[in-house]
Amino acid sequence: MYVDFHAHILPGADHGSQNINMSMTLLRAAASAGVDTIVATPHFYPSKGESVGDFILRREQAFEQLRQALEQASPDLCNIRIIRGAEVMVSGTLCDLPGVEQLCIEHTRYMLIERRPELPLTNSECNVYLRLQSVYGITPVIAHIDRYDPAAVEELAQLELPMQINASGLCGFPSRRRCRRWLQAGNVCALGSDVHRDPKAYRDFQRANHILGAQAAALAQLAREILANQKLW
Ligand SMILES: [Fe+2]
Repeated sequence: MYVDFHAHILPGADHGSQNINMSMTLLRAAASAGVDTIVATPHFYPSKGESVGDFILRREQAFEQLRQALEQASPDLCNIRIIRGAEVMVSGTLCDLPGVEQLCIEHTRYMLIERRPELPLTNSECNVYLRLQSVYGITPVIAHIDRYDPAAVEELAQLELPMQINASGLCGFPSRRRCRRWLQAGNVCALGSDVHRDPKAYRDFQRANHILGAQAAALAQLAREILANQKLW
C-alpha cells in the first residue's frame, strides 16, 4: 500500500477539490491506485495575508466535512487515512509568522514547502530553510522537485533537505530521467499525486509506482517514517 504525500483533496480548501462529491471521487481513485494514506496539503500562501490560525480553522472545517463523509463510505474508502498538512509557499516572512509550526504535517516537525519554479535558489531562501531547522526544529520537505530547475534542486540537495516528487514527474519526459537520478542519490523521501480536481492523477500515481518497481515500497516506507516524525538521515 502507498502513501500519497501531496494532495489537494480537502473540499473547498484551495483550488483543488471543489466540493465533497469531488473529494470522494478523488478518494475512490486513490484507493484504486493502492493508496492507504493521504497527506491533505491545501495551499498556504504567506503573501496573501491569511493568518496561520485562520488557515488552520478553514482547513479543519474542510477536513471535518471529509471525515464525516468517509464515515458513511464503503469499507475500501473509510479505511483511507487522511492526515492534515499544508503546501506552504516559501517566503522571506515565513519564519516570522505567528504559529508557523502549525503548518507542519500533523504530529510531525516536517513541513511541505513549495517554491516558485522560475526562480533560482537564493541565499535568503536557503536562510529560511536553515532558520526553520535551527530555530523551530522543523525540517522542510521540498515539494515536487520535478518542477524546478535541476540546478536549484542540486543546490537544495546539498542542504540535505528531504524532497518529494510528483508522480507526473516520474511518468513524463524529460523529467523522468532526472527524477530517477535524484531517487538514486537518496534525496527523495516521498511520492505525491499533487491531485487537484482530476482523478486521472492517480493513474500517474499507479504508473509511477510501477516505474519505481521495488523502490516503490521503500519510498512509501520513508514517507511513513516522516509521518511518524522519525529522523530520516
Ligand atoms: Fe500541490
